Amino acid sequence: MLSARESRMENYEQIYQALRTNDKPAWTGDGYPRAWTKLTETLDLLAAASQLPVPGSHILELGCGNGMMASLWFARKGYHVCGVDFSPTAIDWARENFARQGISGVFLQDDVCSLAQLEDHRFDLIFDGSCMHCLTGSQRGQAYRQVRRLLRENGTFIISSMCGEPGYEEDRQHYEASSHILYRKGKPWRTLMPLISLQHEIISAGFIIQSVKVAHNPWWDHVMMAVTARQITGTD
Ligand SMILES: C[S@@+](CC[C@H](N)C(=O)[O-])C[C@H]1O[C@@H](n2cnc3c(N)ncnc32)[C@H](O)[C@@H]1O
Repeated sequence: MLSARESRMENYEQIYQALRTNDKPAWTGDGYPRAWTKLTETLDLLAAASQLPVPGSHILELGCGNGMMASLWFARKGYHVCGVDFSPTAIDWARENFARQGISGVFLQDDVCSLAQLEDHRFDLIFDGSCMHCLTGSQRGQAYRQVRRLLRENGTFIISSMCGEPGYEEDRQHYEASSHILYRKGKPWRTLMPLISLQHEIISAGFIIQSVKVAHNPWWDHVMMAVTARQITGTD
């Protein structure tokens, strides 16, 4: 019998095995060109607004999948990239993708709630590869603590997350507004919370919000938020 954590990991693993077997480009499948365009537009804007560290800095992507989204963008710009993901297939695939393209990156199979393999590392930027909204309940606080542990002083954490409430009736039927959990097949699937609640959660976790950009969609919204860690004082 798998534990809840092992079962979540197994779900992602099965999805990546199917994506790889079917020659899909990444997690987003056939939607990859659109997802890539949106991501690069946003990262280009953040770079133009000087909200990203300079190339050569150290970047960690949470939930990097097969490396073909944020990790790829940062590696091509000359950053030192490290990506972590639950799925061994995604990590193996990311290593293969980077090797094929002649770019370097370090990819580790790990849980963003513990990140035990990153004991002594510190990063200038931690990028949420749409992973935070995969975490529910206490997992979210655990991941925020890891981000604070691994972020260099004055480092930036960029959260890329679903937000708002479900727009489609079908999703509303599987949404528990009190816990902000969206269910799939009877199991917690995503955390989907109003932007204001997400902002409160982030501030309570010890971060200061620097910028917020929301994309509105008929299904639910998506926010890109740049935050920094609040310095620990005697009252923390
Ligand atoms: C929505 S997908 C995005 C993947 C990739 N960043 C992309 O944009 O193609 C979220 C990713 O987070 C990973 N993930 C979910 N929960 C995780 C956890 N607790 N620890 C590590 N990775 C996790 C999944 O395996 C999946 O690859």
